[in-house]
Order: sequence, then C-alpha cells, then structure tokens
Amino acid sequence: MTDQTTFFIWNDESITDAAKLLKAGEVVAFPTETVYGLGADATNPVAVAKIFEAKGRPSDNPLIVHVANEQQISRYVTTISSTAKQLIAAFMPGPLTIILPSNGTIADNVTAGLGTVGIRIPDHPAARALIAEADLPIAAPSANLSGKTSPTSAIHVFQDLNGKIAGILDGGQTGVGVESTVIDCTSTIPRILRPGGVTRAQMEAVLGQAIEDAYTESASMTPIAPGMKYKHYEPDVPLILVDGEPTFFQEQIDMYQKDGKKVGALVSEELAPLIRTDQLQMCGSTEDLTTVAAQLYQSLRAFKATEVDLILAEFFPEEGVGQAIMNRLKKAASYIEIQSDQANPL
Ligand code: TXA
Ligand code: MG
Repeated sequence: MTDQTTFFIWNDESITDAAKLLKAGEVVAFPTETVYGLGADATNPVAVAKIFEAKGRPSDNPLIVHVANEQQISRYVTTISSTAKQLIAAFMPGPLTIILPSNGTIADNVTAGLGTVGIRIPDHPAARALIAEADLPIAAPSANLSGKTSPTSAIHVFQDLNGKIAGILDGGQTGVGVESTVIDCTSTIPRILRPGGVTRAQMEAVLGQAIEDAYTESASMTPIAPGMKYKHYEPDVPLILVDGEPTFFQEQIDMYQKDGKKVGALVSEELAPLIRTDQLQMCGSTEDLTTVAAQLYQSLRAFKATEVDLILAEFFPEEGVGQAIMNRLKKAASYIEIQSDQANPL
C-alpha cells in the first residue's frame, strides 16, 4: 500500500501533520496509555479498510473508536445506559472500552456490522491532541501485525508496519502496557469481554453490582468478542506457562536443556535470581502487578527465534491487572501449562 512511512516525534507541529494525514484518509500509528494504536477516520470506510490491510486483520473483528471527550460519545450511539454513564464518569479517560448500541454514524467495517460500537477515551496527551486536532472519531486497533504482541513503543510499530502505513507518531513508551478492558454495556448485567487496564474489582466498586466475566478462559470456549477467537500475542517461539515453586521452574528448564533446547525464561524480578537459563527476561515485580503489565509485551518481543527455542513463563496471580496479564500469557501459550501437581502436557 503506502511505501513511505513518516516517523513523527511528538510535538505541536507533528500533531498537526499527523492529523492532516488522518483527515486525508490515511493510517497513522499513535501512542495511548495502554499500547500503540493504528488510527484512521472511523467514518471513512476506505480509510478503515487500510487498517485491516496493513495489519492483515480478519474483517469480522471490529475496531475500537477513540474519541477526545465524554460529550463526543453521544454522537455515535443511540443510548447510554446508567451503568455505562457511571463507568464513563469513573474511568474515562482511561484504559476502558465500553460497547454501546451504534447509531450508524461509524462506518460498518469498524463495527463489523454488529450494530454495536466500542468506544474509548485514551488517557494519553498525544492521543487526545491528535484526535482533537483531526476532529474525527478515530478507529484504532493495536498497531501490530495481526496475531502478534501489541506494541508498547514506536520501535515495535516500526518493526511490524514500516512501509505499510502513512505515519508513526512517537510518544515514547506506553504506561499501562496491556490493552483496555472491554465491557459490554448493552446487556442487563455488564460483561467483561476482555480483561485489561481497569480491573473487575474497580468497576464493581463503582457500580455496587457484580459484573460477569465473558472472556475465553480456555481453548475450547466460544468467544463473545469477535476478536477473542483469533490467535493473539504470538511470540516468535513457543511459550509454555509454568505454575510451581522456583525449584520446579528450574527442573523444567533443566529438562528442556538436556533435550538440547535453548530455553528463555520470562520471569518476575523475584524469581529471576533463583533460576539459571540461556536467556532471561525480567518483567516487573509480583509485589506490584502493574509493573508486570507495563513490561510484559516488550519482554516477550525481546526473545528471538535465533537465540532461544522456547520460552518458559512464570504463572502470575490472577488478581487485579493479573487477570489481564494471565489472559494474554495463556493465549500466547495456546493454553499450554505445566503444573507441579500434574503430568507434563507435552
Ligand atoms: O487498549 C486498547 O484497547 C488498544 C488501544 C489502541 O486503544 N486497542 C486495542 O484494539 O486493543 P484491538 O483491536 O487490538 O482490540 C479490540 C477488541 C477486540 O477483541 C474486538 O473484538 C473487541 O475489542 N471489540 C471491538 N468492538 C467491539 C464490539 N462492537 N463488540 C464486541 N467486541 C468488540
Ligand atoms: Mg490487538
């Protein structure tokens, strides 16, 4: 498609230039507080088609629409339920996407013809300046090749999409590190379609009501969010989750090494000093899982097929943002786990 990708360093002038590209129907990658997004005018189906082409994304997987402020949400939906209003007030701008009934203004290839639209207000000054300057709703999936790990820096976007998109706006490293929580507010009881930066406990505290988890927990479950059925977060080499004590983790490394394999380990800073292996990537502290979320994708991307044959990854507690971390790691592992109290699944 596009053969020249302009690399913008974030400042007032580059925001104007990048917004011009969006207005002209081009595709521009930009930072959000979660991961980098790949944006286009959500009312222009031709521009939106370029996103699907650049990523190699299946057309039945809808895109999130990014807006600059709360007032803009009502331009694109028929109704906002009282539950949705409370969540908007509490968590927007922030890492939350709310599914609402579409009023048809957003292009059909954004919503995959579902009749609903996922809306989010990113909490990143570059994203908000860009959306405000373009004066458009911006459809944006994560700015990675389909199936790969989401980008948390402009370099990751460059590696996946250079030459395929019109521009990349470099706003540095993203903060949250995992994608937004997707919550369906069109059902009576709100349902989490994807765990992310805002936790279930945080939302339940605001609503004073239980929320359902409706995301895929195993390879066999039927997904509700169309995107959940596709392979995601695929590292360059196979990844296996290891649930057990440090000595058990080390035994698994030793076993694969005896087999002639070079073993990568994706572990917390607590586990790192307790194990020896061919390549180690640390990703934060189990004492504060937000640090794990922030580093997860860049640590996964750091393993190269030329250097390791497989990755063994630590099993993190599934609490708070740990639900999002483990959701992504389980997908990266294609749900393959080794547990100390079970026979090896391989
Ligand atoms: O943090 C994020 O959400 C990032 C940044 C760029 O905003 N975006 C992102 O987009 O992760 P994407 O396309 O990689 O994931 C969007 C997810 C998919 O699982 C998709 O199926 C679901 O949201 N989704 C979008 N619109 C939907 C709708 N109307 N109904 C159900 N699921 C929807
Ligand atoms: Mg994605």
